[in-house]
Amino acid sequence: MNAEDIIEALNRALAAELSAIEIYTAHARVIREPGVAQGVLAIRDVEQEHARALAGRVRSLGGVPVPPGAPATVVGRAAGAVTTQLSTADMLLLELSEEQQAMIDYVASIAQIMDDYDTLDLLEEHLVDEMRHARWLKSQIRAAQARPVAT
Ligand SMILES: [Fe+2]
Ligand SMILES: [Fe+2]
Repeated sequence: MNAEDIIEALNRALAAELSAIEIYTAHARVIREPGVAQGVLAIRDVEQEHARALAGRVRSLGGVPVPPGAPATVVGRAAGAVTTQLSTADMLLLELSEEQQAMIDYVASIAQIMDDYDTLDLLEEHLVDEMRHARWLKSQIRAAQARPVAT
């Protein structure tokens, strides 16, 4: 991967993070179980940190970061808004699918980058965070599926 490819991969990751932030924010507002809503907000804060770090890395490589408010943010906001009608378990399943895709995309970039160690450090850190998020979501999905649906 040359610098241009790396900037492109970082911007794709940034767009996914911006979209995830919108989804987590929308879901945290409507999830009725306080512990779950709090956990979702805590993940949202980590994704905000990821977005800041990715934008910073794009800039230091001489690129222009995807801005908040770009199409990815709008799509994420729409996905978040539409899916607030779902059960808690289904909202968490949607969040899990975002985390799974993020893990796959981070691994693909890590596998391809040859010698940009600053970017590799950043992406490896993010990958570990997404793995933790996925693990927490899976445990919450199991718990939510075991609960009677709140009406
Ligand atoms: Fe993230
Ligand atoms: Fe995550």
